[in-house]
Amino acid sequence: MKVTAIANANIALVKYWGKRDERRILPQNSSISVTTDCLSIKTTVEFSPEYKKDILILDDKEFKQGSKEYDEYFESFLNKLRNLAKKNISLYRHFNNFIRNSYIRNKFVIRRRTWREAPMFVKVVSQSNFPRGAGLASSSAGFAAFAAAANKALGLGFKNKELSILARQGSGSASRSIYDGFVEWKKGERKDGLDSFAEQIVNENYWPDFRMIICLTSKKEKKIKSRTGMAQTVKTSPFYDGWLKTIDDDLKKVRKGIIKRDFSLVGKTAEENCLKMHALMLSTKPPIIYWNSGTIELVHKVIEWRENGLECYFTIDAGPQVKILCLKKDLPEILKRAKKTAGIEDIIVTKPGPGPKIVENHLF
Ligand code: DP6
Repeated sequence: MKVTAIANANIALVKYWGKRDERRILPQNSSISVTTDCLSIKTTVEFSPEYKKDILILDDKEFKQGSKEYDEYFESFLNKLRNLAKKNISLYRHFNNFIRNSYIRNKFVIRRRTWREAPMFVKVVSQSNFPRGAGLASSSAGFAAFAAAANKALGLGFKNKELSILARQGSGSASRSIYDGFVEWKKGERKDGLDSFAEQIVNENYWPDFRMIICLTSKKEKKIKSRTGMAQTVKTSPFYDGWLKTIDDDLKKVRKGIIKRDFSLVGKTAEENCLKMHALMLSTKPPIIYWNSGTIELVHKVIEWRENGLECYFTIDAGPQVKILCLKKDLPEILKRAKKTAGIEDIIVTKPGPGPKIVENHLF
């Protein structure tokens, strides 16, 4: 069955940076994000005995075994999907024992044989409307769309909680893109990760005045992927324990700020949290420096504009792009100023947006 899903990237207000279990993708700390309404990835998946191998095409480029995308991200996620599908087949088998000689039974038997006898290869084609791997949370949208499409294609029947756990195993931040609006990924305590999933704080319509101006200072793919960078930080930054000690307070403030629509509280805490994460990156050995001159220019401008009475804050992820947080009323003035700032290649305005959707128009 061919299924297509669209999901949106989310931007963290309290960041996830570091894992306690790298294989299961379990985080050291909980995090909070807002799902965007326009950084979208559309993904079509088809599992079929007709394919002789797995095929992965991202933005018109095929990734084969030996590439980072295939080996580190795609293959392990796919194996998880295959295991889930196998478990599903044993459910069919169990069901079969009760419905002998019926049409339904025959249908299940055929399905079971197909899965068991033929290797289950998949074709995945994915298209994004923004640069991938440039610090715009593309893996959050990518794996949320992949998980949502695979859920339907394999008939897993997962609801949001299970879907969030599944997406998390592709990329941690994808656990949050399963929901619209403002979302918290609870780190969980269990070793198997079954309590590490995201939940919605408020939906996409709760705070209609909240805006994020994404200023692109470079569209180039970053040199150090989040996955590699955060693992190195946990191992080598002398400040990592300090980061963990302050997280609960940041989470409390951002959660409260969102519920009360207190922009100053959310903005101030998000900016401080982002700077703490970048302090971790800078203190990693060897250092991780995602910022370029355009990034620094904008950071200074945002602080200057705020000091002069225009309320705005910044947040930056694992890349050089600056996301300016502001309210709808201040958007035109901040946009005007951002456009005049040196080093800005492109600007995207976003607000709280929707979770994944299944759509009919496939990519192949
Ligand atoms: C800086 O979710 O991309 O954007 O789980 O290894 O795939 P993996 O990492 P990823 O890391 C996101 C890091 C961040 C902060 C955040 O989104 O919370």
